[in-house]
Amino acid sequence: MSQGLVILGATSKIAQEVGRLAARENRELLLVARNEDRLEAVAGDLLARGAARVVAIAADLGDTSRHAELWAQVEAAMPELESVLLAYGSLGDQAAAEQSVDVALSELNTNFTSAASLLSYAAASLERQRRGVLAVITSVAGDRARRSNYVYGTAKGALSLYAQGLRARLFAAGVRVLTIKPGPVDTPMIAHMKKGALTASPQNVAGAIYREMESGKAEVMYVPFFWRYIMALIRAIPESVGKKLKF
Ligand SMILES: NC(=O)c1ccc[n+]([C@@H]2O[C@H](COP(=O)([O-])OP(=O)(O)OC[C@H]3O[C@@H](n4cnc5c(N)ncnc54)[C@H](OP(=O)(O)O)[C@@H]3O)[C@@H](O)[C@H]2O)c1
Repeated sequence: MSQGLVILGATSKIAQEVGRLAARENRELLLVARNEDRLEAVAGDLLARGAARVVAIAADLGDTSRHAELWAQVEAAMPELESVLLAYGSLGDQAAAEQSVDVALSELNTNFTSAASLLSYAAASLERQRRGVLAVITSVAGDRARRSNYVYGTAKGALSLYAQGLRARLFAAGVRVLTIKPGPVDTPMIAHMKKGALTASPQNVAGAIYREMESGKAEVMYVPFFWRYIMALIRAIPESVGKKLKF
């Protein structure tokens, strides 16, 4: 029997590449994303690449008031979940979030509150099944709040903590929670930013994520791996110095 993978935020570039790897292995895929046209295109691509079955559900994942209904649809379409990948997010404009509390709260909702809501539904399903993998894409930005992007960073840091808590809860049920912390990846999210030598390709990042989800044992993965060491250094900078750095 092929194994079901649910992707929340399936039109994300990283998620699309993970989907392609799963399709190649004839997996069953359940895709959720908000842009119907792009979702349909991604679903068609994955079917053409070998997915055994693709179910596509269009939904604004930031709308927590619809999550109970959405998750009921997910469970009805795919009663046996093997793994769930939470991939959506937004790198909002930090300056705009400083000017408007509403923008800041919306950013925190997209990257944390709504994600925590969906993870809670997914956790309950996997806990009942007593198996499976819950994979959560956060960011290295969540390891330290920085002047340049602390709203996004705070949300991703909170998401990492939430995943850590779920890991402790779901361990007893035999469910693995994988926290994924990418460094910069060349996707539409950072299209407006200058790419450097440390910017990874979405294909490489997705390859590492899919391998780790399928057969790894890690609980927290930095991708590419060297970000673990870079972030250890960044976290070690004292507050008295960090607050003066324009990074
Ligand atoms: N790229 C990087 O440098 C980088 C680094 C670290 C972590 N990450 C994280 O990696 C994940 C994937 O991002 P990506 O790099 O693949 O960027 P991407 O291609 O821009 O994907 C972001 C996705 O999130 C979706 N999204 C945002 N708000 C949503 C909502 N309310 N409902 C449904 N979907 C929503 C977007 O959908 P629409 O197209 O409809 O807007 C888009 O598909 C994100 O969590 C991101 O924070 C990325």
